Amino acid sequence: MTKFNDIKGVVFDLDGVITDTARFHAQAWHALATELGVKWDDELASGLKGLSRMDSLELILKHGGIEAKYNDEEKQRYATEKNTNYKHLIQQLTPDDIYPGMKEFLNELKDGGYKMSLASASKNAPTILEHLELTDYFKKIVDPASLHRGKPDPEIFIKAAELIDLKPEECLGLEDAVAGIAGINAAHETSVGIGDSDVLTEADMVFSNTKNVTLENIKTNMEK
Ligand code: BG6
Ligand code: MG
Repeated sequence: MTKFNDIKGVVFDLDGVITDTARFHAQAWHALATELGVKWDDELASGLKGLSRMDSLELILKHGGIEAKYNDEEKQRYATEKNTNYKHLIQQLTPDDIYPGMKEFLNELKDGGYKMSLASASKNAPTILEHLELTDYFKKIVDPASLHRGKPDPEIFIKAAELIDLKPEECLGLEDAVAGIAGINAAHETSVGIGDSDVLTEADMVFSNTKNVTLENIKTNMEK
């Protein structure tokens, strides 16, 4: 079990951790699922979190029992349609949309000399950081196009630690998705869940309110 004093850096997911873009992803996928005649439910919504764009489409098709219905070109078209809709939704983001306490947490990490990197599966992450005016906090971002495997595979979290020259064991990983927590755990980082502890059951600790994400509270949880 990692000790708090061993932690030197934090690897962040973006969507659903720093801001509520998870709701925009869900809205855009819901619209596409409806168009394709696939029933939307909570299980599908939760399972989609953290998955790459194509993996998300594949899960929706599977959920509707129509995984063999479309060829690659058609799938590409549907994924692009979702992304166009999503990109439109994120235009409205401003720094006011940063989750409560997260800017303070980023500043606490910066002041404490912790290293930070971004492990988001989203190709839209740089645009979102710009809207939130957080670009300066994340000089190190894993390029999702460089990945061989998406979450729940640990690859993105291992790369995020490498980018800041740390061992995975020296990193905390923040995630709102079941797939993301699985990836952090498999990377041997300490997993910090943002959301519902009944859903993020595998996380080392869970915060239901981002206001409570502080180094002091993380330390308390690690010493439990
Ligand atoms: C993740 C989201 O951060 O990024 C997923 O949790 C999303 O819902 C994935 O599918 C890929 O994002 P994008 O913006 O490249 O389609
Ligand atoms: Mg997320």
